[in-house]
Amino acid sequence: MDKQTLIKQLLPSQPWDCTEDAVTAFACSNIALVKYWGKRQKELNLPVTSSLSISLQDRGSQTSLRCQLGSDDLYVVNGYTLDVSSAFARRVKAFLDLFRPSHEHGFYLETDNSVPLAAGLASSASGYAALVLALNELFQWQLDKKSLSIIARMGSGSASRSLWHGFVEWHRGNDEYGLDSYAAPLSHVWPELRLGLLLLNTGVKAIPSRQAMSITQVTSPFYSSWPTLVEKDLTTLKQALDEKDFNLMASTAEANALAMHACMHAARPPINYWLPETLATMQQVWQLRDQGMHVYFTQDAGPNLKLLFLHSDEPILRQYFPEMQVVVPFAKV
Ligand code: PMV
Repeated sequence: MDKQTLIKQLLPSQPWDCTEDAVTAFACSNIALVKYWGKRQKELNLPVTSSLSISLQDRGSQTSLRCQLGSDDLYVVNGYTLDVSSAFARRVKAFLDLFRPSHEHGFYLETDNSVPLAAGLASSASGYAALVLALNELFQWQLDKKSLSIIARMGSGSASRSLWHGFVEWHRGNDEYGLDSYAAPLSHVWPELRLGLLLLNTGVKAIPSRQAMSITQVTSPFYSSWPTLVEKDLTTLKQALDEKDFNLMASTAEANALAMHACMHAARPPINYWLPETLATMQQVWQLRDQGMHVYFTQDAGPNLKLLFLHSDEPILRQYFPEMQVVVPFAKV
């Protein structure tokens, strides 16, 4: 099954009512504690493993969308109009083409991200999730979140997890068409949990995650052990959440991120997202741990780190990392 056929199964049949008024939607970013790295089917973005994330509360993408007869697409991201020939715009267009009522309809999309784009801070996760929420509103599909998660997954795998706050698990699923590969929230609430975003370098990433994932999967000698490791880490992480055991939760997340990067480093050509400042900061975290502090990190497809710690350690950590942006995942809004 291809994307188009899957979408036909999920969506109400055409024609969809399309308002010319703009609709707006927000989706939060998420950071995986047990990572998604590898696809079992590329076209539908079906993952090799399940994954588990924590959402970034009010940080994410705010998107407004309009559909107009007789006009070309226009994408404005953080106030800048995208060049239609850029890889980013072409990817967005290919996704929107799946839902375009006719060739004569153009989409006007404006999105503001409160996390840096393409720097491993989950901008594509919140971006595609907000876009799918906006499409649901624009065409009045009235889909449930499970279906929206499946659709968002086809834009960017991690976007499937960006429709909820808190801890979210994306289930790998077994169905060959991915109808059971969607995310769902976990019930655990952890008000004391903090994430510290360390923007060490906000330049565009060295290699897009989708390409890096594929090279790792095909060439890394360690990739064959990744699915077993993820399964084990998911079990441990859920146990840590049940027991509210911070050290177990955060040490599992850190080890999982390091294992993902070790797989990448061994790929051919090697995939490396670490910059000197990334390694220096990791060493600083390990030193603080040696001194008895409860602080850990995780890293995605970019050089930036996200620290994991508890509210009680925030004042001291702010002294070591004055630039850190602190996220309270379970803040009351
Ligand atoms: O959603 P994608 O295709 O950008 O892949 C995300 C990959 C990681 O951020 C490294 C891991 C994850 O699970 O979010």
